[in-house]
Amino acid sequence: MSSAPSPANSRAREAFAAAFGHAPDGVAFAPGRVNLIGDHVDYNDGLVLPMPLALGTAVAWRRSDGPDFTARAADYHGEAYRFDPSAPPPAGDGWHSLVHGMAALMREVAALDGGLDLLIAGNLPRGAGLSSSASLCIAVGRAILAASQTAPLAAQPLAQVAQAVEHRFAGVACGIMDQMAIAAGTPGAAMLLDCRSLDWQEVALPPEWSVLVVQSGVERELVDGAYNTRRQECESAARKLGVASLRDVDPAGFDPAPLGPAEARRARHVVFEIDRTRRAAAAIAAGDIALLGTLLREAHASMRDLFEASHPEVDRQVAMINDWIGAEGGARMTGGGFGGAIVAILPAPRADSLARELTAQGCAEAMRVFN
Ligand code: GLA
Repeated sequence: MSSAPSPANSRAREAFAAAFGHAPDGVAFAPGRVNLIGDHVDYNDGLVLPMPLALGTAVAWRRSDGPDFTARAADYHGEAYRFDPSAPPPAGDGWHSLVHGMAALMREVAALDGGLDLLIAGNLPRGAGLSSSASLCIAVGRAILAASQTAPLAAQPLAQVAQAVEHRFAGVACGIMDQMAIAAGTPGAAMLLDCRSLDWQEVALPPEWSVLVVQSGVERELVDGAYNTRRQECESAARKLGVASLRDVDPAGFDPAPLGPAEARRARHVVFEIDRTRRAAAAIAAGDIALLGTLLREAHASMRDLFEASHPEVDRQVAMINDWIGAEGGARMTGGGFGGAIVAILPAPRADSLARELTAQGCAEAMRVFN
């Protein structure tokens, strides 16, 4: 799974040879992910239903002389960043912070003595809500593990290192969905992940369905503070409701009386989104695409009206796609919100004509990520 052949792997391998003048010792890969349903619930200990993608990040690596790391990013015109992994990583400095942060924190779990040359090449659209940053972190972590010949690390500690890097060096108080989906999951297989216990199980999508990812063209930016503010509102709501996290609120007994108006909307989204995620997993298992479609529509409306994390242009595209799909399936914005990608689930025989319709409407290309 971690070494799934990807076009990104051969690009990384070739770019490594061109940049460093010799072949790499190995190439590590980590996918991106699309979340089918269950957004902004991971940091509330909720349930999520992500699916790792075939697209992702490849990191070609080779041990170098001396203690330093030299990382080059093929997607940033081969830009190089050289650093000492024992020095403090820079905060808020894009991919430098993520790569240096991983190298620094991996020292606690992997005994790498010496430096590394790294060449990073990805094929995930950035800012699209498909977890390009978690994919980069996990791929760098895997490269370090391979180079250090440390025994393979379980998905959970690797995911937790990558999450700590986002918190400490990227300034994003993210949950653990992306890192766990990427570290533990299999591309093309949806997983129901419990973000409290970190237990998960695969949820097999019926082979007669397709999953499409449509880029809205509206770029999102997590670090603009809106994400962190939403998280604070949820935590404050949980405190006022007297629970450890919003996961502990039963939808049937949800009483927003102690909450201010914004907190009440955020909490309502989270409490019912967790319930929708559970019901969506059951709908998939039962092959009930109409029920799943209804849940996807409700989830989008909730992100738009209660969590207030959507965008008018994304809403327009989601509505158009939902009208086109009709009762058999549905679509919603996916991921952190404020723009990014839309996920659509529909009967496989109709997927190609939806993709053509979107192109005709001037939308960005739709990717078929399942069937
Ligand atoms: C981003 C974060 C995740 C999660 C989603 C929303 O992708 O990194 O932890 O909160 O937003 O579901």
